Amino acid sequence: MTANELRKKYLEFFQSKGHAVIPSAPVLPENDPTVLFTTAGMHPLVPYLMGEKHPLGKRLADAQKCIRTGDIDDVGDNRHLTFFEMLGNWSLGDYFKREAIEWSWEFMTDSKWLGLDPKRIFVTVFAGDKEAGVDRDNDSIEIWKEQYKKIGMEAGVCELDKKAEKNSRIFLLGKEDNFWGPAGETGPCGPCTEMFYDVWPEEGELQGTHDELVKQFRLMEIWNDVFMEFNKSAEGKFEKMAQQNVDTGMGLERTVTVLSGKENVFDTDLFLPIIQEVEKLSGKSYQDEEYKKPMRIVADHIKAAVFIIADGVEPSNVQRGYVLRRLIRRAVRQGHVLGIKENFTTKIAKVVQKIYGAVYPEILRENILNVLEEEENKFAKTLASGLLKIEKYLSNPEGNFIYRKFGNETQQAPSYFNTDAAELSFDLYQTNGFPLEMSLEELKKTGITFDEEKIKEKFNEKLKQHQELSRTASAGMFKGGLADTMEKTTALHTTAHLMLAGLRKVLGEGVHQKGSNINGERIRFDFSYGEKMTDDQKKAVEDYVNAAIKENVKVIMSEMTPEEAREAGAEGEFGHKYGELVKVYEIPGFSKEICGGPHVKNTGDIKGVFKIAKEESSSAGVRRIKATLV
Ligand code: SER
Repeated sequence: MTANELRKKYLEFFQSKGHAVIPSAPVLPENDPTVLFTTAGMHPLVPYLMGEKHPLGKRLADAQKCIRTGDIDDVGDNRHLTFFEMLGNWSLGDYFKREAIEWSWEFMTDSKWLGLDPKRIFVTVFAGDKEAGVDRDNDSIEIWKEQYKKIGMEAGVCELDKKAEKNSRIFLLGKEDNFWGPAGETGPCGPCTEMFYDVWPEEGELQGTHDELVKQFRLMEIWNDVFMEFNKSAEGKFEKMAQQNVDTGMGLERTVTVLSGKENVFDTDLFLPIIQEVEKLSGKSYQDEEYKKPMRIVADHIKAAVFIIADGVEPSNVQRGYVLRRLIRRAVRQGHVLGIKENFTTKIAKVVQKIYGAVYPEILRENILNVLEEEENKFAKTLASGLLKIEKYLSNPEGNFIYRKFGNETQQAPSYFNTDAAELSFDLYQTNGFPLEMSLEELKKTGITFDEEKIKEKFNEKLKQHQELSRTASAGMFKGGLADTMEKTTALHTTAHLMLAGLRKVLGEGVHQKGSNINGERIRFDFSYGEKMTDDQKKAVEDYVNAAIKENVKVIMSEMTPEEAREAGAEGEFGHKYGELVKVYEIPGFSKEICGGPHVKNTGDIKGVFKIAKEESSSAGVRRIKATLV
């Protein structure tokens, strides 16, 4: 069965059960400001689920275009997609669990419709949740048992987190899995029952818990019936709604996969023509394991991009536009991995248009190809400037310390390289749209050996920090924990300036900063110096810093050109590329340093006594200090 046939059959089936067919809404939700994209069939129907009257009645059916980017990193396995279609039937305060489950069973198993093997169908039901105040869904369990009885099976119930037994057919799962919604922060939601198909029946009886079986890809989820009778309020309460609704979502791609006896969504008519085009463009074979994932990513992402552009979004650096940009750039990047040299996104888009144009004519608009082409050109430019950044960073003989330290002498990167590389990668990610893996590949090309895992770890730390900050900032709630952490970090940041000045005073002017990492708890600081510090030296540095804290000196910030800063004796990264103007933070009598900030207003705000907790070797000629305020 082709995807087009499945879509048609689904709608026909529910028409035969008294449903009116409604068209897909755009992938940009019109009624729900809490989400960027339509991630489920229910989005466009929220007002009706909440009680508004729908002009076409209480029973509706549709195929809805959806975009989900939460799983973007999973794209490339056998079932995750960013664009997919959800087939849905809807009861707006009309029928409830019984009809929903009976019709699901009939549509899946009746040879007139899908004719799936009922013995290969396994379902999940909500186990109940005390905290949410929602009971175990015994009604659904009973209704499912009746369905299995129709084929002479006694369906067994497998309790929460237990391993499957011989007759297990109905698996109980908790809130995480079997309570659906709301799609945004608030709105309609309820317990659900999901249907899975066994894609490897030849393996014999199911072994393990439901979760394990899904992770092993043996069970493929194809349909979800949600019994939407609650509304989640802004206070997080689940309130019973006046009407009991049904929201079901059958994944078109996954269902067509199991119907064609496949176990992989990419092996269907919704993808194969695209993959073939990628093969043609790259000269690589999809059969080659190495190229499977990049090909799948290209196919999925360009398809999603086409649908997003068709509904009116253009690439940008914010919100929907940013998601779109990311999809296109990730695809282009994977194209490069496949060895495609020329622009190619419009060629892929044309295949997408062929597959879907008859069902979704909005994707046939000419401008879609222009938008793609333009973004691909833009990316080519920023790609070039990003690569240049990396090159400059690694090979500036005018004193770039990375180069000096190991560029010619040794290929083993010093440990602070991890921090620097993470920072560089993060900058490339933010300003040039480079995915991390791309920066790492570029760094590898230099022949330097470094600790990839560490860099990933640091990069993700930064990303998380950044996301946290932008999330809380956009929610307008810099309260409590975060504000406190930021204040402590700022205090330690100023302390680090004092410490560097102290180190230069005690150990000599040859000391310069080689890297630092500050969080709300401590300073980690690398500096150039060839020997272990003595206890006296450490004490002298501590005294220097503590004297400055005690004196409560005003911290002065001024802006000037890098030349002026250097002439004024400000400490800075020698050879570092600064902008036209830099900020210089001066703590008169103690320190003067080029820095982006932020810093405390007066050293007295630092609060606490400075203490060097540890001093050790970091790499050849570089020492590392860990210090805190106690
Ligand atoms: N809203 C449910 C889902 O997205 C069913 O459509 O899975």
